[in-house]
Amino acid sequence: MSVSKEVKRVTVHVLQAMKARGEKITMLTGYDYSMAHILDEAGVEIILVGDSASNVMAGHETTLPITLDQMIYHASSVVRGVHRALVVVDLPFGSYQGSSRVALESAIRIMKEAGAHAVKLEGGEEVGDSVRRILSAGIPVMGHLGLTPQSIYKFGTYQVRAKEEEEANKLKRDAKLLEELGCFAIVLEKIPAALTKEVSESLEIPTIGIGGGMYADGQVLVTHDMLGITRDFQPRFLRRYMELFDAIKLAVEQYCTDVKSGDFPNEHEQY
Ligand code: KIV
Repeated sequence: MSVSKEVKRVTVHVLQAMKARGEKITMLTGYDYSMAHILDEAGVEIILVGDSASNVMAGHETTLPITLDQMIYHASSVVRGVHRALVVVDLPFGSYQGSSRVALESAIRIMKEAGAHAVKLEGGEEVGDSVRRILSAGIPVMGHLGLTPQSIYKFGTYQVRAKEEEEANKLKRDAKLLEELGCFAIVLEKIPAALTKEVSESLEIPTIGIGGGMYADGQVLVTHDMLGITRDFQPRFLRRYMELFDAIKLAVEQYCTDVKSGDFPNEHEQY
């Protein structure tokens, strides 16, 4: 599907209406202008400037090192490429935990300096004050529960979360709390499908799943993973729509061959 310039912008209200009519929501990550432009034209509803930029753009092992300044750089590039999609930006590790005042300042910088439309942060009750304070400034907030990668050193592994009753019950309480506080959507990462179903049915706001199964109100993937730019990351939930690593490598090898052999540029490719 290609999208014309007059198409209505996706807002948080559009997303809630989609959930109400049972229409699935699409979200993908974007970190730069060119890819954001493609995702937007393809009709994806939400572009997440994820702190996964720390992994796929910067090559870090975890999402922890990326800074607020770096997130703002990625987000402002994405915003310039988008005409229709809602641009949601991750608050990076250290920019919202512990102090709701710091959280609000971080969110305001993202909105002002990048021109983003909403922020996302990880956690439930522990970040309730930050969520409340950011919302009080009129900034839409997306929650993120289940496997929250900024807490990887607490979890110890990237395995499925909330399989046990205690953790599942906390997740259900947190989801309700985030809805009551006023979040417009919640990402549910790597939890059992049955739990995603229960949570999604209990909320009026949409849930967006990643490794959360078929019952979420929408789905998100890391674009570099679904396009096969990354190769080593192969969890069960990931569907690869392309093998871009191999395709790009082939093209670059061909370019090198052509330059070295004198085939490129030819007489039509010069002035
Ligand atoms: O940073 C990110 O890409 C995310 C998605 C995995 C939801 O938070």
